[in-house]
Amino acid sequence: MTIITSIEDLRLLAKKRVPRMFYDYADAGSWTESTYRANNEDFGKIKFRQRVAVNLENRTLASTMVGEPVAMPVALAPTGLTGMQHADGEILAAKAAEKFGVPFTLSTMSICSIEDIAAHTSKPFWFQLYVMKDREFINRLIDRAKAARCSALVLTLDLQVLGQRHKDLRNGLSAPPKLTIANMINLATKPRWCFGMLGTKRRGFGNIVGHATSVSDMSSLSSWTSQQFDLSLSWKDVEWIKQRWGGKLIIKGIMDAEDARLAVDSGADALIVSNHGGRQLDGAQSSIGALPAIVEAVGRQIEVHMDGGIRSGQDMIKAVALGAKGVYIGRPFLYGLGAMGEQGVSKCLEIIRNEADLTMAFCGLRDLRDIDRNILLPGTY
Ligand code: GLV
Repeated sequence: MTIITSIEDLRLLAKKRVPRMFYDYADAGSWTESTYRANNEDFGKIKFRQRVAVNLENRTLASTMVGEPVAMPVALAPTGLTGMQHADGEILAAKAAEKFGVPFTLSTMSICSIEDIAAHTSKPFWFQLYVMKDREFINRLIDRAKAARCSALVLTLDLQVLGQRHKDLRNGLSAPPKLTIANMINLATKPRWCFGMLGTKRRGFGNIVGHATSVSDMSSLSSWTSQQFDLSLSWKDVEWIKQRWGGKLIIKGIMDAEDARLAVDSGADALIVSNHGGRQLDGAQSSIGALPAIVEAVGRQIEVHMDGGIRSGQDMIKAVALGAKGVYIGRPFLYGLGAMGEQGVSKCLEIIRNEADLTMAFCGLRDLRDIDRNILLPGTY
């Protein structure tokens, strides 16, 4: 029996249980992975101020994100191919998030469909949208998200071109995997995953296959992205999407204060400081490094969220101290899912909650909403 005490334990177990091409897809960054590493390393440079002998009774991490109550300000990030980490992965993750009381965000590039998630959950979830050339398809996706009672739309602006991830190319990433000799040898070492996949029909891109016309090669993320994603995307498109959607809009992929101001002008309710988990522009600053200037520029006008590099409750508390109203976790919950299915996602959230709760106590606070820069050591952020 493996005893799981950290996100790292979940990662190691996922690495054993998930076929290499999907583990690598989730785990890797682009090119040299310098931005991917900086996302983690820059959290490590920020230091807390430890305080003692203050009342630590009745602590709470509860907060809100875009006006929705959350048990702690940690949403599950929209991640592609989640249903390839574990059979029916998006459904399992959405259920774990719902039970825990945090938002689940379904990716456009998910395996389970919008309708699948709606059928298996009772609270509204969030839907992430990519802008593709086929505007009718976008309209239909937005309408499907509305019909499924999604309560926020997360519009990703930083993936009109795809950063190169060496391992995906080498592994011949596709969903479902092609049955080459190398893949079959690797799959033979992952019996749990294989049994799970044999028991589900959800093995392709559920939001797209059967819904989008002119999709010729859906199995390959990179070829599909280059064929379908709209290179002419502009802030004008953000306006029509906001209008068509009519609900809460969160803009994802902001790394620059000027873009943050444009996001405010677009009428969005929140923006996410994000370099796509170090999967896109290699050489970009870390997300936690970019956060303070963006909070300074627009933090009074719009909710600022962040993702990238969160591996612990300590990281979440640091982001909140630097002005993030909420954070998103991608890889940590995917590790949990790949390791132990729904139970693993719950475990991931529990680990982060316990770490965050105790960290807040060590910093001498009882309510997450009281956290600000005062808990951080000057000169370390
Ligand atoms: C998609 O969002 C990816 O980063 O692969």
